[in-house]
Amino acid sequence: ASDQDLSGMSVLVTAGPTVEPIDPVRYLTNRSSGKMGYAVAGAALRRGARVILVSGPTALKPPHGVEFIGVETAREMFDAVLAHYPHVDVVVKSAAVADYRPKEAAQHKIKKNQDQMTIELEKNPDILAELGRRKTRQILVGFAAETKELEKNALRKLEMKNLDLLVANDVTRPGAEFGADTNIVKLVYPGQIIVQLPKMDKKTLADRILDEALNLRASSQ
Ligand code: PMT
Repeated sequence: ASDQDLSGMSVLVTAGPTVEPIDPVRYLTNRSSGKMGYAVAGAALRRGARVILVSGPTALKPPHGVEFIGVETAREMFDAVLAHYPHVDVVVKSAAVADYRPKEAAQHKIKKNQDQMTIELEKNPDILAELGRRKTRQILVGFAAETKELEKNALRKLEMKNLDLLVANDVTRPGAEFGADTNIVKLVYPGQIIVQLPKMDKKTLADRILDEALNLRASSQ
């Protein structure tokens, strides 16, 4: 990638997990470290883009110069992402959004006076699907984290969410797990085009994803 080839563009990146409260001291979440999304945000910034990073809680420091919006729940992420969506050119949705949240977060710490307990869950909004519905000129890049039937699930998500590119990872493969510094992905495009990439650093992959987004944008204009 040439220097500053994203200058004049706005890139919205989501990263990390969401956390969904059970009570004031407990929550549901997942194993996303945020490394993938922060790598994309850092790469876009280096290449001259304006970068908005919407992130769930992680141990990482946001790259200096991004517009950082810290969120906790999927619903907070939904609001932050939708608010910025109309004004951005590219969206890269690497966050691992919780599909379900506890139906009610207890107001006080739940006491352990039952041998078994059940937490009722309800579905969170699908942020990426909503972006797909509202897409005007944005290049929309999603991820798919799968443990089986990678290609089949990826093709379904690409179509259902009206994406321009889907980055599919089998998170059971060594080198592609949550929290790893590397990833092994297939790039999936409309028309059932699938490109297997070798194992690479998340930083290298971040640049590759931005190269693809830039190409897609050039061919859509
Ligand atoms: O953070 P790391 O430790 O570096 O790990 C990287 C990663 C494994 C988290 C990343 O590579 C990845 O795969 N991110 C997507 C994880 C995920 O939630 O995948 P999914 O297949 O459940 O969701 C598909 C897509 O829809 C994702 O782009 C997701 O952001 C989006 N989604 C999902 C559910 C929902 N309610 N709203 C969404 O926007």
